[in-house]
Amino acid sequence: MLKIAVLVSGGGTNLQAIMDAIDAGDIQDAAISVVISNNKNAFALERAAKKGIENICISPKDYESREDFNRAFLEKLEIYQVDLIVLAGFLVVLPGEIITRYENRIINIHPSLIPSFCGKGFYGLKVHEAALLRGVKITGATVHFVDKGTDTGPIILQKAVEVKEGDTPEILQRRVMEEAEWKILPRAIDLIAKGRVSVIDGKVNIKEEI
Ligand code: GRF
Repeated sequence: MLKIAVLVSGGGTNLQAIMDAIDAGDIQDAAISVVISNNKNAFALERAAKKGIENICISPKDYESREDFNRAFLEKLEIYQVDLIVLAGFLVVLPGEIITRYENRIINIHPSLIPSFCGKGFYGLKVHEAALLRGVKITGATVHFVDKGTDTGPIILQKAVEVKEGDTPEILQRRVMEEAEWKILPRAIDLIAKGRVSVIDGKVNIKEEI
């Protein structure tokens, strides 16, 4: 059984997609041990509570220094002994120590086809604003492992989504979530739970189903 921590900052629709996929049997041999937010008002925490999943808030604001926060965060995380950390709209930069300790065991969902519209400053609606400004006809979402760079880790899954005439950043964001994010994030977790995902020379290899 793959034990998962889901890290969130906001609405938690991706968290919901993961919980629904577990209930539906689309993710097998996996369970969410804890949902952690840096923001006590995150609706994602309520979604977890409603499902009876342990949910906690650890905010940098409650610590004197970033180092203190990082230490507390790692200590808290270690209590749950998770196998996989899922960043589902988590807006805090993870400390290097966690990234090193959980190498190839942290995944993130990004709302574009990496390497387009990613890296520093590309989060939330800004990603979709940039895509519309550039006039791309296709965008999408990417699930990738997290390394020490911003959106630079090995790519696990991607799904393309059409940009339509008259799209606003909000409309496009919603379509990317519905058609891509809520599908590929649960799918990636299921593949990892089944032991089908490995990283070779910085690239992801997905084993055929037997
Ligand atoms: C999603 O667009 C995700 O790609 C990005 O943050 C957003 C989180 O949305 N990383 P939600 O909290 O899952 O609804």
